[in-house]
Amino acid sequence: MACPRPLTPVNLQKYLHWRSHLSYFVSNQELDLWPNISSLRPRPSRTYQQAALDQRRNPLPGVGATRPLEQTKMCVYAPQMLAQIRSACVQGIDASPIEIEVDSGCGQQQMVIVGLPDTAVKESRDRVGTALLNSSFRFPLGRTTVNLAPADIRKQGPSFDLPIAIGVLVSSEQIKSSLLKDYVIVGELALTGAVRPIKGTLPVALRARDEGRRGVIVPHENAAEAAVVEGLDVIPIANLREAAEFLEGIFSINPVRVDTTALFEKAPLDDFDMSDVKGQESVKRALEIAAAGGHNVLLIGPPGTGKSMLAKRLAGILPPLTLDEALETTKIHSIIGLLTQGQALVTLRPFRSPHHTISDAGLLGGGTHPTPGEISLAHHGVLFLDELPEFKRSVLETMRQPLEDGKVTISRAAGSMTFPSQFMLVAAMNPTPDGKMPQESRSTPREIQAYLGRVSGPLLDRIDLHVEVPAVTFSDLSRAKPGESSREIRQRVIEARQRQHRRFDRRRISCNARMGTRELREFVALEESTQTLLKHAMSDLELSARAYDRILKVARTIADLVGCERVSHEHVFEAIQYRSLDRQLWG
Ligand SMILES: Nc1ncnc2c1ncn2[C@@H]1O[C@H](COP(=O)(O)OP(=O)(O)O)[C@@H](O)[C@H]1O
Ligand SMILES: [Mg+2]
Repeated sequence: MACPRPLTPVNLQKYLHWRSHLSYFVSNQELDLWPNISSLRPRPSRTYQQAALDQRRNPLPGVGATRPLEQTKMCVYAPQMLAQIRSACVQGIDASPIEIEVDSGCGQQQMVIVGLPDTAVKESRDRVGTALLNSSFRFPLGRTTVNLAPADIRKQGPSFDLPIAIGVLVSSEQIKSSLLKDYVIVGELALTGAVRPIKGTLPVALRARDEGRRGVIVPHENAAEAAVVEGLDVIPIANLREAAEFLEGIFSINPVRVDTTALFEKAPLDDFDMSDVKGQESVKRALEIAAAGGHNVLLIGPPGTGKSMLAKRLAGILPPLTLDEALETTKIHSIIGLLTQGQALVTLRPFRSPHHTISDAGLLGGGTHPTPGEISLAHHGVLFLDELPEFKRSVLETMRQPLEDGKVTISRAAGSMTFPSQFMLVAAMNPTPDGKMPQESRSTPREIQAYLGRVSGPLLDRIDLHVEVPAVTFSDLSRAKPGESSREIRQRVIEARQRQHRRFDRRRISCNARMGTRELREFVALEESTQTLLKHAMSDLELSARAYDRILKVARTIADLVGCERVSHEHVFEAIQYRSLDRQLWG
């Protein structure tokens, strides 16, 4: 603390008064500036009270008169330390680097956190203070200022506890470390000093690698998740003292390693198998096409015919996730905190089936600080909407745009976030309010129309395959021989996807359903006779231009399932069939 101007007998009084307001200590250097008061300098053994007593016996002119020395706090202060700790915070699905500056200075004992902290970050003051004491460290006596830079990013959550505590230890010279620049530190602290798991470790680790850091120091429960990132030393930490000793080099901790290939090989298979479903061969065929090309499906049929049963088995016939897809999906699950303890990677395609009472924010994502919703949690997997007309119409309508774009942007006062949402939509519904097919139903045509009207035309247009799920016959149910297993169907699906990958080489398209107009023109060239067939279907079924494109995409997948390079008459014919049920019902 520099003196504002050279001290003279006149302004000394004002100066000391000014200092007392800021409740700063009078330092040795400042006392040196004014020889007359150098007698106030406390000797090492001299207590505060003794200095005050001296002043009363031998008062200094102009000092004691307005300001009794009892009120003047005195200490000797050393040049202050500024600690800089690297951390990160999650924004959207990626992490931004955050630098935590901690300055332990003189003044009243308090900790101030600045740099746009939210409530959880502000509360870290109390957690850090107690955790330091309970880890046999001390809390610095003076004022500790913590700055989270850059100051324009809003900081949320308790993950800054550990880096702030380390910063306090370094700035108050309780520990010394040369490793601080190399590691990104995150973790929540318990009052005991134990380190608790946090959300979003994977994005933090990815960011640390991109910045070229040597490693990350993370709660040990989150270590496996971070270790998926190659080329990064992941140091698992159980408590504050362990972290401090590791940074000082007293205690060595081996970085966690994870073998991602082994994780994929060990991925458990789904409990649900297609062979459990008796009959329904045409529906299974439609689901196979949907899985092969990543198409959206709508299953329509009376209750108890196996619609929910079939939909649940769809994830089991999808091709395995690639490492990049798995990382993207894991990132989303990580920031929501859905990974189980010690889980490194989401290796199975997600299957999300939200209840029909779900809100817009629950489905799309939202909140004051936007977090991903169900459509993003189903990224690279399946979103199953059972009893489709029971969902609020407004909720279904908001899903239209993400269905098309494969991503969703949420704007809030706190900022706008974009989350990926490339999911396969699988919906199931009854054809009428009482569940029967329209010709057998007791509901009036008006009731049926009102019921079907809850699902809008534009949403139906975005669903490539409309499949009728008929009642199962007794002979099908009583047949002893089980149908094809998920494994066999999946093999054909994988082969069809491999053909697509070869075709879309170096384009950012993962499957036929994601083709744009340019790819359709390039990869789905139709013969003259096939064109005519499609032209008639368009006019008979009154199909929209979007429906036309979607028929071509489905036809491309059907051809890929049999290994045909050229899309022919029969492939288009089968694809048109999947667009006729909605015409019969919605007319
Ligand atoms: N095709 C089928 N093969 C075997 N069991 C079936 C079949 N269809 C229905 N079931 C039985 O009926 C139950 C209800 O099926 P569910 O899929 O919930 O029907 P939905 O969703 O069409 O109303 C299933 O749990 C299963 O036991
Ligand atoms: Mg059902």
